[in-house]
Amino acid sequence: MTQSQRCNRKRTHSPLIALFFLVFIVCSILYNELSIQRIHQDSHHDHQEAPVRYIQPNLFDRKSEVLDRFSKCNATREYSGSKIGWADPRVKSGRRRVGSERCDVFSGKWVFDNASYPLYNESQCPYMSDQLACHKHGRSDVRYQYWRWQPHNCNLKRWNATEMWEKLRGKRLMFVGDSLNRGQWISMLCLLQSVIPENKRSITPNAQLTIFRAEEYNATVEFLWAPLLVESNSDDPVNHRLDERIICPDSVLKHSSQWEQADILVFNSYLWWRQGPVKLLWSSEENGVCEELDGLGAMELAMSAWADWVASKLNPLKKRVFFVTMSPTHLWSREWQPGSEGNCYNEKIPIDLEGYWGSGSDLPTMRMLDKVLSKLGSKVTVLNITQLSEYRKDGHPSIYRKFWETLKPQQLSNPPSYSDCIHWCLPGVPDVWNELLFHFL
Ligand SMILES: *[C@@H]1O[C@H](CO)[C@@H](O)[C@H](O)[C@H]1NC(C)=O
Ligand SMILES: *[C@@H]1O[C@H](CO)[C@@H](O)[C@H](O)[C@H]1NC(C)=O
Ligand SMILES: *[C@@H]1O[C@H](CO)[C@@H](O)[C@H](O)[C@H]1NC(C)=O
Ligand SMILES: *[C@@H]1O[C@H](CO)[C@@H](O)[C@H](O)[C@H]1NC(C)=O
Ligand SMILES: *[C@@H]1O[C@H](CO)[C@@H](O)[C@H](O)[C@H]1NC(C)=O
Ligand SMILES: *[C@@H]1O[C@H](CO)[C@@H](O)[C@H](O)[C@H]1NC(C)=O
Repeated sequence: MTQSQRCNRKRTHSPLIALFFLVFIVCSILYNELSIQRIHQDSHHDHQEAPVRYIQPNLFDRKSEVLDRFSKCNATREYSGSKIGWADPRVKSGRRRVGSERCDVFSGKWVFDNASYPLYNESQCPYMSDQLACHKHGRSDVRYQYWRWQPHNCNLKRWNATEMWEKLRGKRLMFVGDSLNRGQWISMLCLLQSVIPENKRSITPNAQLTIFRAEEYNATVEFLWAPLLVESNSDDPVNHRLDERIICPDSVLKHSSQWEQADILVFNSYLWWRQGPVKLLWSSEENGVCEELDGLGAMELAMSAWADWVASKLNPLKKRVFFVTMSPTHLWSREWQPGSEGNCYNEKIPIDLEGYWGSGSDLPTMRMLDKVLSKLGSKVTVLNITQLSEYRKDGHPSIYRKFWETLKPQQLSNPPSYSDCIHWCLPGVPDVWNELLFHFL
């Protein structure tokens, strides 16, 4: 219904466009009638196995949220094997082809370039986070700020803040995800803010949705905290350190209601699925009984519910969706330097072994992403930052950030024991993720 309302609002001026929309509307109607059509992932033709139950996501249009940080499962049982059946994206696929890239910009190497990097000054970015301002927190070796990503067979488009603002004019750019994605959002603010006079920009207080506005461009750059994409008990932007993760695997509605009006969406999700089993509370469950599933399986359910939203609700002629692949961690220095016992602490230069891949980037997760994202075709642009970030063992804050908890003497005497080898210093690696975003916009 909302679909046809949206269509009716369009004023079509050219017969060609009118014809296109007619086809589009007919397709929409057809699609709605055929909505039982599902993509059956993993459909093995093994008649021995019990048939997999496919649950259509996002059906329960709840206004109030079911989960919050105090939620508990009333009981937990084994995973029933239910999967998410999502809309076939081909039924309503858009016409636009994402530029037929002759060059793989994600394959390349880091080049020391202190002439053009960093792209901004850490101390002059008012939106900098104390978790990421490594120089401010004592990191004296600032070589990590000077690396340029050089694709093998072409050049990345040069970052130009004014040009980026022109692309954003009248639009909402929204980052949706976890603290890694928040880092990329802060990087974007730092990259963009210098060309906007101080009295023409503003930012709302930190909340689940935080909004940066640039008056002259009537544009916003926003961040929505949604670390597991679907509704979960970890959606509080501040208090989310919990003993157990509970998700509603078939519901992205709570979050999509906040992101559906954005014009350009940048999603990520990964590390929160790497913390052990996840509890599933299906929308149809009335007694608060959860099922338990490993992180990768749960992530696939959440990605499928998200993909259903992209496939069925997104008009690719009007909006852009990006998905940022796994951000690697550097927790074990023995992986790049056999025999050593540390982590990213004290690492000062990138890894130069082409194709280096550490255990922080989970291959089964990547294969799952390949599968889900490739079905969405041109509806989503993948920012495949995993390999290029894998090289940057030098790019993490390690001990040079603000730590919220008080550090004990035995920690302080052993820096690797409390090093942050997950997030990234700014200026640094996430700036390049944003240059890639700029490249594809
Ligand atoms: C860049 O690095 C080179 C070599 O380390 C050094 O000689 C030069 O002074 C640096 N330039 C700037 C602008 O930092
Ligand atoms: C960054 O800004 C600070 C304060 O204005 C200044 O002291 C410092 O030299 C600047 N750093 C660079 C690399 O330009
Ligand atoms: C940046 O983009 C603006 C607007 O497109 C253009 O006028 C300007 O020349 C560009 N600057 C550089 C350094 O390329
Ligand atoms: C500003 O952008 C919003 C969309 O984000 C649009 O609805 C509104 O009409 C724009 N206002 C002006 C004055 O252009
Ligand atoms: C757990 O059971 C209690 C009592 O039956 C009920 O009030 C509560 O809503 C249930 N929890 C959930 C998450 O459904
Ligand atoms: C990302 O790139 C890696 C190689 O670095 C490749 O194996 C993987 O399939 C790519 N993933 C996606 C989702 O494009």
